[in-house]
Amino acid sequence: SWNMPDYVATAVQRIRDEVGSDEVILGLSGGVDSSVAAALIHRAIGDQLTCVFVDNGLLRLNEAEQVMETFAKNLGVKVIHVDASAKFLGDLAGVSDPEAKRKIIGREFVEVFQQESAKLAQAKWLAQGTIYPDVIESAGAKTKKAHTIKSHHNVGGLPDTLKLQLLEPLRELFKDEVRELGVALGLPHEMVYRHPFPGPGLGVRILGEVKREYADLLRRADHIFIEELRNTQDADGKSWYDKTSQAFAVFLPVKSVGVMGDGRTYDYVVALRAVVTTDFMTAHWAELPYDLLGKVSNRIINEVRGINRVVYDISGKPPATIEWE
Ligand code: XMP
Repeated sequence: SWNMPDYVATAVQRIRDEVGSDEVILGLSGGVDSSVAAALIHRAIGDQLTCVFVDNGLLRLNEAEQVMETFAKNLGVKVIHVDASAKFLGDLAGVSDPEAKRKIIGREFVEVFQQESAKLAQAKWLAQGTIYPDVIESAGAKTKKAHTIKSHHNVGGLPDTLKLQLLEPLRELFKDEVRELGVALGLPHEMVYRHPFPGPGLGVRILGEVKREYADLLRRADHIFIEELRNTQDADGKSWYDKTSQAFAVFLPVKSVGVMGDGRTYDYVVALRAVVTTDFMTAHWAELPYDLLGKVSNRIINEVRGINRVVYDISGKPPATIEWE
């Protein structure tokens, strides 16, 4: 185990030695790994780093604003914010197969990222937030030729057609060390301890065909769920957000009948999912208190017009997966 201030100083020096006066590009997703990598590299080389943040239209509520606020405004990092939501959602129109959706979102990301990096012609390095478990996993995948049950598209895995050298300053760190480093670099606790979010984002949390209307409803429902989980506190000061490993809402494109005042509604369903797991390979559904579930359900139905029914997912993994697609 290392001492954090010493580690930061060493890591900063290593980056400086490696890149010299070259320019570096980094795909910032808002996730923990790319965020910590960005903060560390920025600490080392300042304006030689340019981050590209791609809004694919499938992000959580206010996510783009939060990333811009944290990095561009508070830390003074150069961030290019690309709103590619129309392009992503356009390409997803009519597509309902989960793997097909993942491929489109992954391909689109690479395309948009390449277009943006082509504008930064001086850049010689591509920085990625690869962490130690990713290194192990991809080494295992190569030797075992393990076929993946779901194709995972993270910000990583860009093709080498970019002709850039790879800069991966987190390659030797475990997740908890990455988080500690993030805190030491001044990133907000909320960002560093956020639940994992899949690369295809809400694209795999809207069952079947993705539409902007669905994404807008889901974002608001999901935000209410997370806000209420964060608003709880047990005797040790831990919230249900801290006690769950991943929690989110899923949009079901199914309409059911409800009542509102004297009228009848015929609206969509949202499923809540919250799991407890250490490795994400197996997971238990979280035993959230009924009053908390009730509050979340009431708020979603009252505040998100278009949703009139909320259900809670009580499936373990296996046999279910954590995501619904
Ligand atoms: P499942 O649904 O397979 O998920 O039980 C296990 C973990 O992997 C995440 N996940 C993804 N992450 N791209 C990602 O970057 C993907 O396509 C993807 N699919 C699932 C999921 O959120 C959970 O943490």
